[in-house]
Amino acid sequence: MLGSRLGPAALLAAITACRAAEPPPPWSEAWLAGEAERYLGATANRRAALEASLVNPDNVYSRQRLKSYGRDTVGWDALPVWNPRSRPIDRAAADDLARRVWPELPAERLWDGARPANQAAWIGLGRRVFFEFPLRPEFAMEHVLTPWSASTELADDAAANAAALGVERTPAGDLPGLVVFADVDGQRRVGITCAICHTAIRDGVVVEGAARRRLDLGSLRLRYYRDTGTVVDAELARRMATWGPGRADVTEDDDEDPVAIPDLWGLRAESFLTHAGTIRHLGPAALAIRQETQLLHASGLRIRPPRELAWALAMYLYSIEPPPARPVADRGAVARGATVFDAHCRRCHGSAGYGGDPVPVELVGTEPALANGRARGTGRYRVTALVRVADAAPYLHDGTVPTLDVLLSADRLALGFAGGARGPGPVRGHRYGIDLPAADRAALIRYLESL
Ligand code: HEC
Ligand code: HEC
Repeated sequence: MLGSRLGPAALLAAITACRAAEPPPPWSEAWLAGEAERYLGATANRRAALEASLVNPDNVYSRQRLKSYGRDTVGWDALPVWNPRSRPIDRAAADDLARRVWPELPAERLWDGARPANQAAWIGLGRRVFFEFPLRPEFAMEHVLTPWSASTELADDAAANAAALGVERTPAGDLPGLVVFADVDGQRRVGITCAICHTAIRDGVVVEGAARRRLDLGSLRLRYYRDTGTVVDAELARRMATWGPGRADVTEDDDEDPVAIPDLWGLRAESFLTHAGTIRHLGPAALAIRQETQLLHASGLRIRPPRELAWALAMYLYSIEPPPARPVADRGAVARGATVFDAHCRRCHGSAGYGGDPVPVELVGTEPALANGRARGTGRYRVTALVRVADAAPYLHDGTVPTLDVLLSADRLALGFAGGARGPGPVRGHRYGIDLPAADRAALIRYLESL
C-alpha cells in the first residue's frame, strides 16, 4: 500500500501531484484549450474522434467521411486550404447590388492567420466564420438581389421578392447570412453563410442561432431557374416546390427528405447531433469535425477551411444563448404543466435542454424517411430539445405539425385531417400526451411555452 511505504510529507506531496495532474473540468477554458490542442495537433486524433462520432458507419454521411477525412496525405486533407475574402451584405452592399454594381471587397482575408489566445477570442473568430465564411456561391440569391435593370422600381421589387422568400433584413437594411466574396476562382459572387439558415430577425432584432423559419430556398431556386430559363430536372423542381419555408434537404442522397432547420442554442447538452442522431456528440472535436467537413463539402470539395476556423465555429456555436423566454402569464398552469411533463414526457425529454438520446423510429412513429434513409439514417430520431419550443413551429424533424396544440391533439391522426403544416392528410407519430384530459393538456402547453 502507498501509505505504508511513504512518510506523511511524501504522501501529501504525492496527493498534491495527483491533484495537479487531474484533468480540468469539462467545458472550462483550460479543458477546451486542451481539446483544441488535440484536434488541431495531430491527424490521428482527428481520425479517432471522427470514427468515434459516427453512429452508423454504413450511411452515406459516414462512408464519405471514413473514406476521405483524417487521412493525412490523401483525401480531404490534401485539399488546398482556403481563407476567403468576404464582405457581409450590409445596407451599402445591398444598394450596390440593386444598382448592379459589385460592392468593394476588403483587402484582408477573413482570418489573420494567428491562432486565438483565449476562449473569448475563439468565440469572436467563430462568430465571424458563422456570418462571413461563404459556404458556396448562391446564384439564386445573387439573382434575387440584382434586378434586371437599374430602375429603382425593379430594385424595390427585388427587395420585396427577397423578403417574401425569407431573405430577411435588419431595420438598418443589412442582410445577415449573405456575403459578397471572391470565389476560389477569383470571381466575385454572392454567397450564403451559416447565418442564412441559423439566424432570424424577430421584431427587428437579430436572433443568433434561431432557425430562419421563413427562408424558402426551394422557391428561391425555382424563381432563378424560371427567370433565367435554366432547364431543370422536372423531378428536382417538383421536390424543391415541396420544401416550403424553414426546411432544406441537406442530405447527400436522392431521396426526398427535407428537414426542419433547428435552433442552435443548447448544443452542449445534446448527446447526439442532427435529427437522425447521425453524430455522437462525445466532445467539441465531434462538432468541429462536423463543421470542417460541412464547409469543405459545401464548397464542392474544391477547398478545405483552415482547421482553426472549424474549431472557432464550434466554440461560437457552444456560446450561443437562447433569446429571452416568453413572460409567464399563468404560474398556476405552468406549475401544473410541469407535473404533467414529469409524468409523461421527461423519461425521453430529460436532458438539461429537455432533449434526450435518440429513440427507434418505430417507437416514436414519425415520418421514417430520414431515420431510415441511406444518407444519414441511424434507424432513430433524437429527442428534440425544447428550450424556446414555443417559437420553434412547425414541429417534428420534417416540420409537419403547425402548433403545440396540434402536436398534442388526436385530431391530426385522422385520415381527413387538413391542418398539417405541409398540406392535407394525417400526421402520425409522437402520440404522447394526446389522450390527456383537456385541462392537463392546456397546462402542459403553458409549461412548454415557458421553456
Ligand atoms: C441551407 C440551410 C443551412 C445552412 C446554410 C446551414 N445549415 Fe445547419 N442545419 C440545417 C438543417 C436543415 C439542419 C438539420 C439537419 C439534420 O438534422 O439532418 C442543420 C443542422 C445543424 C446542426 C445540428 C444541430 C443539432 O441540434 O443537432 C448544426 C450544429 C448546424 N446545422 C450548424 C451549421 C453551421 C455552423 C453552418 C455553417 C457552416 C450551417 N449549419 C449551415 C440547415 C442549414
Ligand atoms: C418515447 C420518447 C418520447 C416521449 C415519451 C415524448 N417525446 Fe417528444 N419527442 C420525441 C422524439 C424522438 C421527438 C422527435 C421526433 C421527430 O422529429 O420525428 C420528439 C419531439 C417533440 C417535440 C417537437 C419539438 C420540435 O421543435 O420539433 C415536442 C414539442 C415534444 N416532443 C414534446 C413532448 C411532450 C410534451 C411529451 C409528453 C406529453 C413528449 N414529447 C413525450 C420523443 C419523445
